[in-house]
Amino acid sequence: MQFAHAGLASPEYYVPGLPVDHVAARYGLDPAEIAKLGSAENPFGPSPKAREAVAAALDRLHLYPSWTAEPLREAIAELAECEPAEVICGAGETEIISLIIRAFAPEGGRILMPGPCFPIYHLFAEGEGRLPVLAQAATDRSTMALDVDGYLDHLTEDTRIVFVTNPNSPSGTWLTEGDVRRIVEAAPQALVVLDEAYVHYSDTPGHLHLARDYEHLAVLRTFSKAFGLAGLRIGFGVAARPIVDALLAVKTTWNLGQLQIDGAIAALGDDEHVRRTVDTIVASRAYVQDRFEDLDRFRMVPGSRSNFFLVEILDPDTDSTRVFDGLLERGVIVKDGSVSFRGLDDRFLRVDVNVKEHMDRLVSALADLP
Ligand SMILES: Cc1ncc(COP(=O)(O)O)c(C=O)c1O
Repeated sequence: MQFAHAGLASPEYYVPGLPVDHVAARYGLDPAEIAKLGSAENPFGPSPKAREAVAAALDRLHLYPSWTAEPLREAIAELAECEPAEVICGAGETEIISLIIRAFAPEGGRILMPGPCFPIYHLFAEGEGRLPVLAQAATDRSTMALDVDGYLDHLTEDTRIVFVTNPNSPSGTWLTEGDVRRIVEAAPQALVVLDEAYVHYSDTPGHLHLARDYEHLAVLRTFSKAFGLAGLRIGFGVAARPIVDALLAVKTTWNLGQLQIDGAIAALGDDEHVRRTVDTIVASRAYVQDRFEDLDRFRMVPGSRSNFFLVEILDPDTDSTRVFDGLLERGVIVKDGSVSFRGLDDRFLRVDVNVKEHMDRLVSALADLP
């Protein structure tokens, strides 16, 4: 078999957080008692307005949707104060990331990303035969935050794409507008991709407006998190028109269906759902930070502005896989750092912030581990 490049002969895939049913069946647990803290989903479910709009769209399933998702582009353009032609919509942010890699890095082209980072960046880069460069030295181990100067040291003249995730993943740490601008301005030869998947939890408006200031910046967001629509698959990017035009040329023509388009438009108008979600997560984040004071073998890595945080394992006699397995047995699903994130080692877990009841389950289970 001839593959387009050698990497496709032994590909690596994304490792998602485990589903509740799987864990309930494996350990004989009541699904209602399981804390699912490995996928950063919305604890309150989908936006009710989106659910209604999706139901109403069922009558139009026989019709092709707009191939550019035009009505959604218009709604996003209003939010971003830009033209609809400066918006690209995709089946989740992940699809837009794949389009960017295809359109802006040639085969073998260097793509810079923090190490650790959202694994999709390097998995897609490798899947497409591009060269991911994980800047591991630019992550400060005590905070797991990105050191901007260290990151910029990895830039080369032939870097074609630079990923910046804000809030960062998996640390949840935050970069100021000045830091984001510094990265964008240092990389005029590249397309800078600012991934704001978790921006709602930062309790700031984020940096969508920067897409108007720079011709080589794309700002990406998702409907999977604060809007609660991970199962519907919708994301978007805002960028200068030549960038969007190129992405339109490489995307599958009808990449979003009618349900996604109508659901997303309704979700954008559901401030109440977003506010309830954000308020709960922000309060729970402070709550769980206090609860971690009771633990001496684990440390909550401080500074998360997201709906997840890193736990550092201080006990040298155990590791992330043993802790991960021990938590599963106790009905708590998290992410094992050594398995889910390249560049993170066996001293770390990534854990979602969720309702206080689940945070209590997490802390009790950690305290109960042998
Ligand atoms: C940093 C980051 N970006 C983007 C996404 C993609 O979200 P989606 O494809 O669901 O829009 C995720 C999802 O986990 C993420 O963690």
